[in-house]
Amino acid sequence: MVEQRTILLAVSGASGMPYAVRLAEVLGGRADVALHVIVSDAARRVLELEQPGGAAAIEAAAHALHAENDFSAPPASGSWPHHGMIVCPCSMKTLAAIATGLGSNLIHRAADVSLKERRTLVLMTRETPLSLIHIENMAAATRAGAVIMPACPGFYAGEPSLRGLVDFMVARALDRLGLAQDLLRPWNGGQPAQQDT
Ligand SMILES: Cc1cc2nc3c(=O)[nH]c(=O)nc-3n(C[C@H](O)[C@H](O)[C@H](O)COP(=O)(O)O)c2cc1C
Repeated sequence: MVEQRTILLAVSGASGMPYAVRLAEVLGGRADVALHVIVSDAARRVLELEQPGGAAAIEAAAHALHAENDFSAPPASGSWPHHGMIVCPCSMKTLAAIATGLGSNLIHRAADVSLKERRTLVLMTRETPLSLIHIENMAAATRAGAVIMPACPGFYAGEPSLRGLVDFMVARALDRLGLAQDLLRPWNGGQPAQQDT
């Protein structure tokens, strides 16, 4: 039997919904992951605009779905064990709430709990350019233990398609969550990829 790791994916209302939909598909399709999902109201609006059908795809991939304002859901408590939380994409509002310990919705609360329990918390932030407020909130979240992972794919991986760029970020997110992945080969100095034999 495969040992399952519980991963919490929170989707907030920043641009970048293709990352969230693909990440949900990849995590939800793994036998070794139990995927819990929270989608903010703002995220649902951005999903409608950026990727119609995306909300349904995310929900279909989830093993458990928690409402944004359900503070009695398991992720609100430190006694609920998980192996990593990722906010993808992470809006500047959600970043600010996490950086200041606001806890005003389940995403903020679950992130706050992840930090206090010293569990992995990855914030795939998306805004440009950044104000000093954004930068200081990123610094505060980093000091508290979060990993700031801006949605900035590299262009060196050899796949110039939109799907390739999305997969670049999804692969790096899986790396940070400690999950083996084959979406992105380790950088090999720019040598041609070895043929699999
Ligand atoms: C189409 C669209 C794109 C947006 N993109 C961003 C973004 O990239 N970054 C950001 O911080 N906010 C963005 N926003 C604004 C957030 O949705 C807004 O601040 C919202 O209150 C965030 O709520 P949440 O963090 O609770 O999901 C966008 C809004 C819309 C409608």
